[in-house]
Amino acid sequence: MSGLNDLHEGPGVLTEAAHRAESAPRRRLFIQSFGCQMNVYDAQRMADLLAPEGYAETSQAEDADVIVLNTCHIRERAAEKIFSELGKLRAVKSERAASGRDTKIVVAGCVAQAEGGEIFRRQKAVDAVVGPQSYHRLPELLRRAETERGLVETEFPAQDKFDFLVPPTPEQVRKRGVSAFVTVQEGCDKFCSFCVVPYTRGAESSRPVAEIVAEVKTLVSAGVREVTLLGQNVNAYHGANGAGGAASLAELCARIAATPGLARIRYTTSHPNDMSADLIAAHRDEAALMPFLHLPVQAGSDRILAAMNRKHKSADYVALVAEIRAARPDIALSSDFIVGFPGETEADFEATLDLVERVGFASAFSFKYSPRLGTPGSDLENQVEESVKSTRLSRLQALLEAQRQAFNHALVGSVVEVLFEKPGRHPGQIAGKTPYMQAVHAEGSADLIGETCPVEIVAAGSNSLFGRVAPSRAAREVPI
Ligand code: 5AD
Ligand code: SF4
Repeated sequence: MSGLNDLHEGPGVLTEAAHRAESAPRRRLFIQSFGCQMNVYDAQRMADLLAPEGYAETSQAEDADVIVLNTCHIRERAAEKIFSELGKLRAVKSERAASGRDTKIVVAGCVAQAEGGEIFRRQKAVDAVVGPQSYHRLPELLRRAETERGLVETEFPAQDKFDFLVPPTPEQVRKRGVSAFVTVQEGCDKFCSFCVVPYTRGAESSRPVAEIVAEVKTLVSAGVREVTLLGQNVNAYHGANGAGGAASLAELCARIAATPGLARIRYTTSHPNDMSADLIAAHRDEAALMPFLHLPVQAGSDRILAAMNRKHKSADYVALVAEIRAARPDIALSSDFIVGFPGETEADFEATLDLVERVGFASAFSFKYSPRLGTPGSDLENQVEESVKSTRLSRLQALLEAQRQAFNHALVGSVVEVLFEKPGRHPGQIAGKTPYMQAVHAEGSADLIGETCPVEIVAAGSNSLFGRVAPSRAAREVPI
């Protein structure tokens, strides 16, 4: 039995769940996730939770007795997409009803948290709404939905949802692949003035070290080789260390790195002000910690950074990057950017371009500012015109794309460690990732899936690299 079982479930609960799985009719579950990686993780945990209830996952909404949309509220477009998706699902529900099949539609995630019961007003086909801190109640909600309408569960319960979650079976882990997400921290206390996260995901909280280590062990024993530790502000992690104190993210990484069979650790997303000295040192000392860091800066102008409530200046970020690179010279950086924050002038925007030039990013996400109700940014009067935002976004993206291509091409001719994750597009090919998160395709046997091998990069395409598995691989001992 896995450590996670020990932590999350008393034996009575397990027996009852196992009993339900046997006695319950097989039902189909379709979960669609939008937005960030944490939603992907949450969706998996929802599927894990419903498996003992007799729900098997399907990839077709039309086949599903229960449809869960795990939603994202970060930008207006993301939220609007949910309502258009719900419109389509309503049609699926009526079609199934016409052939006598019942369908329950559940809205989960951050739109659920932000909109609550309002969702029923906009889409009557929805049966239940469940926020990101209460989805452990999904099995109970679905039972209640048989007889009740308009169910909403968006409390931030005093007891942690993680205490109620069910570990995945080894078969489920294998299906999901060799790279897995593990949420270690949730919520955010930073209150950047554009961001809804502190409202939808709540206050910052960290899972205890022992619980995370046990979850990683369960994953690795089922074949996972890489974990990405997730948190909205992951480097603010301070989970209980079992000795009455709190562990930092660096300490957590060290504990996780000791898991036999685990090859790689990543973490995302970080705030520059929480890049502590021990975390920077971990990038130098911890071989399993990958030399790739997503460190959002959002903007390059001090005036805009202040208005965004980021609490650091442009020069602080540049100095921090220099410090990180001194510790780990080959580290590759990525970032998030927002253009057109209220009050952003051409000069402010050029300061963002200037910062990008000075730092050099391997990859990045960039967005037009989107006012979110309830955040301080949305009340500001000097909103930037949409057309100006669009032009700035294109200019920024052109620069970031040039840097990404240059970074990819610079690797041609070198040998990098690739973790192979899956079969490639063509027979005889396999696909994996470099330490810097680039996709690599190579000729190779499917036996190499789940292994890290030195690969010579022979060419760079626009979205992936092409490599040759080094001949020395055959003689190399692969850690088990
Ligand atoms: N408008 C545009 N982009 C936003 N982000 C967060 N909130 C907004 C918003 N209101 C971006 C930030 C963040 C990423 C996850 O989404 O860049 O880092
Ligand atoms: Fe949002 Fe990140 Fe700022 Fe927290 S640190 S408020 S999650 S942008």
